[in-house]
Amino acid sequence: MTGPRSVTVRVPATTANLGAGYDCLGLALALHNEVALALAPESSVEVEGEGADSLPRDGTHMVLRAARRAAEAAGESLPPLALRQVNRIPLARGLGSSSAAIVGGVIGANELLGLALSERTMLDVATEVEGHPDNVAPAMLGGLTVCCTVGDEVLVQRLAVAEGLSCVVAIPDFEVATHRARRVLPETVDHADAVFNLSRAGLTVAALVSGSFDLLREAMRDRLHQPYRAHLVPGMEEAIEAALKAGARSAALSGSGPTVAAFVTGGGEEVGAAMVNAFRRAGTAARAQELPLSAEGARVVS
Ligand code: HSE
Repeated sequence: MTGPRSVTVRVPATTANLGAGYDCLGLALALHNEVALALAPESSVEVEGEGADSLPRDGTHMVLRAARRAAEAAGESLPPLALRQVNRIPLARGLGSSSAAIVGGVIGANELLGLALSERTMLDVATEVEGHPDNVAPAMLGGLTVCCTVGDEVLVQRLAVAEGLSCVVAIPDFEVATHRARRVLPETVDHADAVFNLSRAGLTVAALVSGSFDLLREAMRDRLHQPYRAHLVPGMEEAIEAALKAGARSAALSGSGPTVAAFVTGGGEEVGAAMVNAFRRAGTAARAQELPLSAEGARVVS
């Protein structure tokens, strides 16, 4: 069975971890990439925007790798495809650019090739390609997602965030590869640190869903990854402190960094400027951007 001859998928950026929720919590943000796939006599890759100078132009491109895995999951092989990607999510900054590519590839292939994969299978395939679910889940489903992995499968619950919260990101001008940021983490952690985080991860979800945003400041504190990653992001701790001082409800490293995400109910410009200044004092150039939360996940737009 075949579907349409071309398809475009719009996929949101994401911020994962939310401090304490390492590898399990994620939020979709209103900044989107577009992934267009078309059946073609031979494969080609065109990239516009972020990564236009650096992303591969062959079958190793993340979108095509993910599309291939989606086809294989349906017992088919991937035909030659023309890929056109319009990227607005900066690469390797902790804002889910690779998840956006993977989710775009999986959903795009499913639609274009009529694979009839369930949402659950698409999430499993995307997670397998990415390696962890906390960015792919909000990219696919939107809103707030809570995940856990059971063997090769992902259990996920999507939740709506209460009205009134927005995200301000301070994006440093350098990249941190997630695999590098994972290598600096310890093999084992202290029991007290595990309890510190799991209680706060639960509280983070409760605060976001109920609108008790005053809980977020404490809830988003973390002892399992940020302290070990601070040396990779000069100014991270100072930017988090500066955001809180400038009125943010909470702030944390976005995914594996280097971006810091602050959550605000107003005063986003001041919070962004405070983070950028704190980064600058630590010798890191960064730019701020306010990104509303996105209730909507990836969507086939044409
Ligand atoms: N949770 C991951 C990490 C990043 O912090 O390494 C996003 O998948």
